[in-house]
Amino acid sequence: MCGIVGIIGGSDVAPRLIEGLKRLEYRGYDSGGIAALANGGIERRRAKGKIIELETRVREDPVRGAIGIGHTRWATHGVPNEANAHPHANDRVAVVHNGIIENFQVLRRDLLDDGHVFASDTDTEVVVHLISQEIAEGVEPIEATRRALTRLEGAFALGILLRDREDVLIAARQGSPLAIGHGDGEMYLGSDALALAPMTRRITYLEDGDWALLTRDGATIRDLDGRDVERPEHLTGLSGAMIGKGGHRHFMAKEIFEQPQVIGDTLNAMFNPANRTITLPDLPFDLATVPRIVMVACGTASLAGMVGKYWMERLAGVPVEWDVASEFRYRAPMMADGGLAVFISQSGETADTLAALRYCKEHGQHCLAVVNAPESTIAREAHSVLPTLAGPEIGVASTKAFTTQLVVLACLTIALGRARGTLGRAEEARLCTALSEVPSRAAEVLHHAERIRAIAQETVAPARDVLFLGRGTSYPLALEGALKLKEISYIHAEGYAAGEMKHGPIALIDENFPVVVIAPSDGAFDKTASNLQEVVARGGRGIVLTDPEGVARLGALTPDVIALPAVDPFVAPILHAIPLQLLAYHTAVEKGTDVDQPRNLAKAVTVE
Ligand code: F6R
Repeated sequence: MCGIVGIIGGSDVAPRLIEGLKRLEYRGYDSGGIAALANGGIERRRAKGKIIELETRVREDPVRGAIGIGHTRWATHGVPNEANAHPHANDRVAVVHNGIIENFQVLRRDLLDDGHVFASDTDTEVVVHLISQEIAEGVEPIEATRRALTRLEGAFALGILLRDREDVLIAARQGSPLAIGHGDGEMYLGSDALALAPMTRRITYLEDGDWALLTRDGATIRDLDGRDVERPEHLTGLSGAMIGKGGHRHFMAKEIFEQPQVIGDTLNAMFNPANRTITLPDLPFDLATVPRIVMVACGTASLAGMVGKYWMERLAGVPVEWDVASEFRYRAPMMADGGLAVFISQSGETADTLAALRYCKEHGQHCLAVVNAPESTIAREAHSVLPTLAGPEIGVASTKAFTTQLVVLACLTIALGRARGTLGRAEEARLCTALSEVPSRAAEVLHHAERIRAIAQETVAPARDVLFLGRGTSYPLALEGALKLKEISYIHAEGYAAGEMKHGPIALIDENFPVVVIAPSDGAFDKTASNLQEVVARGGRGIVLTDPEGVARLGALTPDVIALPAVDPFVAPILHAIPLQLLAYHTAVEKGTDVDQPRNLAKAVTVE
């Protein structure tokens, strides 16, 4: 949510600020802006819409200056327009912000009483006025900034320019991620290392409560009492190359089609083909004696966790409590002493997931992160990490991150089952063989893309509402199919446990209501097929994802049946995710929505 970039350098910074913002655009894209210090004043350009609009604005009216800040916004307070775009500034101070200043209303009221005039509806603008007020009262600008920071509550990552200090760029972090980049005679600031990768690979991550003074020669990091603190410098593995679409029209399509490769990469890090076993990295707890697991995440990642719950309970006999992070952290959940808490996140920065992790740490849980961003806050704060090797995921809708999360959770399930004695050697080998076939089966699933496109165009795109049904591990997939469809096509969709359909949603079914049924030929097939009968009997249009055996058992019930490869039911959810992604993708393309950057969404949700 919102991306921040800053540079204190030796030459004009505007072009590089804009490049950095393009690399951060996945975090929000409703407006953008930059500010730089030039000719003794603050120069600022802002534009509503994507960074390309800002780039055009800056081309028409260039900004000079060797120290500057930039921002790409995901609106929290105030509509997405130019007045609410960052940087917020007056003639003395310019500020970019990611997060929410929770006490901004109190601060704003006090500032209004003191005669300050606000130019935006944002929470951020109070920071500009707080610092200016201190300066106006005669406080030196850096001390004025420190004092202002101590008055803020909530979550923030801030980049601050002071008109009278061309030699210093200020950064502050409380809750929202922020990284410092080390250059040669230059220093940088960014919401993540990806934004800074073309300029430097030397990164220092700020921690909560830190603020930093960046000069051209280095950074001093302090706590809010003014004491210096040491933070290590890392060498990021991220590439500075701009990530391309690989010949696809959208990042989402590229990422869907990358799945055979990245599923294989993720699996190969844990799977030993010689003896068909799973080896996890050393973990600082004993899988055999973990009394209970809590599985916590948000959105699509949480649905991977729900599949994991079904797997771990059935195959490893361990009780698993599953919840979305925003509920989990506020409901005083019961946790067993020495329990295992698993946090799943593509970005590794999701605010609710991070808060849940901190909560579990305080409550004595072993915290294990399944993350795609190895340098993220969640990866750094967890006790141990099982990485998904999906590579950067740029499309806002999560695709390859989801299937690689499933692969990691499948491997963890097998390791748990072996350690607890619920899976024998032969059973482990059978499950491992099934997993090892997933990359090639995933490639086969992609061959159905054209057929799925036809169904998307003819049946799904014209619909107002769509229902997704599944049982067992296909139930979280039904939820995921609905989530994917609604977020990129803006068609209302609901995922339901197939057995629950009769308890309400069946009332909605008529000839305009497509029902996507996820029905691998597993132990639940006949019951799910009965639910499909009930849909068809009421004139509903069933779209069925199954396998050759399922096709044979369904007969001529509905014309829209996709026969996915026959696989062990254990790995079916990994494969069934792919046609659901394709269905959402082709529906969105048909409807002409912005597939990679759907309205109102952002890739890393760093606010609650
Ligand atoms: C949906 C989607 C989101 C994310 C959720 C968690 O396609 O991408 O629901 O899964 O915001 O994000 P991460 O995985 O970064 O914690």
